[in-house]
Amino acid sequence: MLCSAAAMADCQIGTIPFSVFRFVFFILVSSSLTLFCSAADTITRNQTIRDGETLVSKGQNYELGFFGHENSTSRFVGIWFRNITVKTFIWVANRENPVSDKAGVLTIGSDGNLVVLDGNGRPLWSSNVSLSSENSTAKLDDDGSLILTSSDGKSHWQSFDYPTDTFLPGMKVVVNRLKGENRAFTSWKAETDPSPGNYSMGVDPRGSPQIVIWEGSRRRWRSGPWNSLTFNGIPNMSSANLLYGFRLSNEEEDESRYFTYTPLNVSDKMMFRIRWDGFEEQLRWEEENKKWSVMQSQPDKNNDCELYNKCGNFAICSSWESPICSCMQGFVPKNWEEWRRGKWEEGCSRRTPLLCQRNSTGTQEGGDEDGFASVKCAKLPDFGDLVRVDNTDNCKGKCSSDCNCTAYSYVNGIGCLIWSGELLDVQHFTKGGNTLYIRLAHSDLGGKKSLSTVLIVTITIVGAVFLGLFICLAWRFKSKLKVLPSTATSTTTTSLGWRRSNEIPPYDASKSAEISTELSGPVDLGIEGNQVNGPDLPMFNFNCIAATTNNFSEENKLGQGGFGLVYKGTLPGGQEIAVKRLSRKSGQGLEEFKNEIILIAKLQHRNLVRLLGCCIQGEEKMLLYEYMPNKSLDSFIFDLDKQALLDWKKRYTIIEGIARGLLYLHRDSRLRIIHRDLKASNILLDEDLNPKISDFGMARIFGGNQNEANTNRVVGTYGYMAPEYAMEGLFSVKSDVYSFGVLLLEIVSGRRNISYRSTEYASLLAYAWQLWSEGRAAELIDASIAETCSRNEVLRCIHVGMLCVQDSPGYRPTMSSVVLMLESETANLPLPRQPTFTSMRGHIDSDLFSEGYENASLNDMTVTMVVDGR
Ligand SMILES: *[C@@H]1O[C@H](CO)[C@@H](O)[C@H](O)[C@H]1NC(C)=O
Ligand SMILES: *[C@@H]1O[C@H](CO)[C@@H](O)[C@H](O)[C@H]1NC(C)=O
Ligand SMILES: *[C@@H]1O[C@H](CO)[C@@H](O)[C@H](O)[C@H]1NC(C)=O
Ligand SMILES: *[C@@H]1O[C@H](CO)[C@@H](O)[C@H](O)[C@H]1NC(C)=O
Repeated sequence: MLCSAAAMADCQIGTIPFSVFRFVFFILVSSSLTLFCSAADTITRNQTIRDGETLVSKGQNYELGFFGHENSTSRFVGIWFRNITVKTFIWVANRENPVSDKAGVLTIGSDGNLVVLDGNGRPLWSSNVSLSSENSTAKLDDDGSLILTSSDGKSHWQSFDYPTDTFLPGMKVVVNRLKGENRAFTSWKAETDPSPGNYSMGVDPRGSPQIVIWEGSRRRWRSGPWNSLTFNGIPNMSSANLLYGFRLSNEEEDESRYFTYTPLNVSDKMMFRIRWDGFEEQLRWEEENKKWSVMQSQPDKNNDCELYNKCGNFAICSSWESPICSCMQGFVPKNWEEWRRGKWEEGCSRRTPLLCQRNSTGTQEGGDEDGFASVKCAKLPDFGDLVRVDNTDNCKGKCSSDCNCTAYSYVNGIGCLIWSGELLDVQHFTKGGNTLYIRLAHSDLGGKKSLSTVLIVTITIVGAVFLGLFICLAWRFKSKLKVLPSTATSTTTTSLGWRRSNEIPPYDASKSAEISTELSGPVDLGIEGNQVNGPDLPMFNFNCIAATTNNFSEENKLGQGGFGLVYKGTLPGGQEIAVKRLSRKSGQGLEEFKNEIILIAKLQHRNLVRLLGCCIQGEEKMLLYEYMPNKSLDSFIFDLDKQALLDWKKRYTIIEGIARGLLYLHRDSRLRIIHRDLKASNILLDEDLNPKISDFGMARIFGGNQNEANTNRVVGTYGYMAPEYAMEGLFSVKSDVYSFGVLLLEIVSGRRNISYRSTEYASLLAYAWQLWSEGRAAELIDASIAETCSRNEVLRCIHVGMLCVQDSPGYRPTMSSVVLMLESETANLPLPRQPTFTSMRGHIDSDLFSEGYENASLNDMTVTMVVDGR
């Protein structure tokens, strides 16, 4: 087409015959080419590819054939990029057994497998799968995979499952806890020799999966654990680069998960590979420069800290310090002599045994409890184990209760990681990373120099020296002054090292927080503020978020609530997120807002929606949550078509889940969050229909001071609001209990509290009370579950619901009793009192608020009103 267009362009009257000739010639050539090409992305039985012939994929992206370096007679079958001037191979078949001359062929063997044969018909390589018939075909796909298909159309083998050194978009790298490390990629032996080399690359599924480069059997580099958005050990992977487009799939039946990669622009030619000299590279083809540009490379050639366990066990590598290695707080070099000479391999050992270790050796001495020292912005040690606990306190508890545990970290997006035994390959970053808590004997907690104390001391010394100089000058000027000796002492003592360590004031976490804020720069929200001991929260750049939500387009809108609009976003890797764009009137300053978000990010529970990150840019404030494909509970229970999808068992787990999540907010989290807007549309359902409470903590951001029990702004939704809250603005954990009770009755009955107007009753609560008091509570049960449910469970739920919606907060149970009541079949429940509030007020308000309640779906019907006006 291009050529013919060119021919037409210089179409001038006098030269028509020539142009026509060129045109026809082009057609002839190109059609014969096309015929050849279109026939040749596939080989079938009895067809062969000889050395010199090639297969070309349909879209002309890839080509398959024999190749070899000009200085060598070895020939290999491989796949390379077509239409790229730099010949780049992505896959090699017979890398262990090259053909020694140009007589080799690739064909479908008598057993139906793809085989490479030498000139004598001896097999050198085979796809080696068992096939039922010999009539199979092999096709070179346009994404670079060679696929072997049997005559019934089933694919039995593909080159993407047996990669050599290159990872392409579309490939899957298997992560399976049961199968352990997966060294999927092996480097070439040399730049021009595709035989297997010394380096391999793959994933280690332990704890949270990470990418590892091995040299032989030793580790050379690792990425740090995957936190569902980035790798902990690649700090500059956050925000701007927006995650490169990696994604880890959910677990499948055989407990396998897959890492995949999708480029930002799908038309980009992109690949990752493990180079022959042990460096992983991410490359992108630049058509304009006709070369591959390196987007990132690991390990970083200019940073020795990147090499695996550079400083040895129990040491920390900080690339900006000199020397780069230092022992962790409470640890001393195993071999001082070597350590001083810069040979760090032996690492460090514990100065004082832990109390539990001393006790276990039988000495039974008393003493102060062991404690934890923190390292901020750390690349977490290797070989962490994931423990399923809900929050950072329980994580700490888990570690304290096991004498083998040497450290823990609670990471947003992963959960609780604990380490037993030695701590390997820890790095200190200037920003990013996570906070690591190292277990120490009590006596080692105080004095020793963490980075921050070193800084404080350095600043003190520099200050002292300046002061000394100043005083010295003054002293010369006025020789009466005799202050010098005291400053001189302080300098000598410090230059002598840490002799005075018992005089150094105890380690002060709040001070170190200030220092690391200085070091971290403005973007890294996770370590700002004073509440630094929680998981670190990734901070995103506004443009990236705008891109993932298609510029906040209407199609991406999921819903609208009192706190702002919610959009669906898709990260380059395909991971879906929900973005809540907060309305601007939050009334909070930036610092307060950040502190709130950090606090909220620390709330982690199976039944709370996970906060993945946030974005603050000027007026814009956004929260990024995990995306819940099944939307919210109200889209099920109030929808006649979908009601039946939630059978009683499912509804019961949903009720229990909400109760547990709420209990966590009220009691177990250190913050004591009162939700204040619990309702069906704020309960989201994950793919397995497990409930997750959303919008918790919003009241803290929008509703003013949480410590005051009285607020002049009521945030909540009519129908779910407890009487004392709706009328007087008084709230407490018991107002959430009320909302929970309403929700419970709605789940059981499949009807909305407020739109319940088809009868003489003002609300579902009034109706429920009527049935309850007449002993007909079973009639409340949703028709779609009435047949199959467990009567006793449902009736107990209704009973608990009635207890929760009593007018007086004092009569309502706490969430912990609710959880107990729901779970114990034998508990004797108290008798509820009649709820009068909604029946009294229903008539007026249901008119006022009649619009919109009927067609509510994901939309939050949040009503924010000023109480004074009522
Ligand atoms: C094919 O696989 C079998 C077992 O899985 C193995 O013993 C055999 O050596 C393989 N053959 C080739 C040519 O790789
Ligand atoms: C394979 O194909 C050949 C020729 O088309 C046919 O004769 C033979 O029956 C086929 N074999 C099987 C097992 O389908
Ligand atoms: C691979 O290992 C061998 C043996 O240890 C060594 O001689 C060779 O130089 C190594 N090759 C590369 C590329 O590092
Ligand atoms: C993707 O790349 C193609 C070709 O390089 C370019 O034409 C296109 O504009 C790019 N798309 C985006 C969204 O950047």
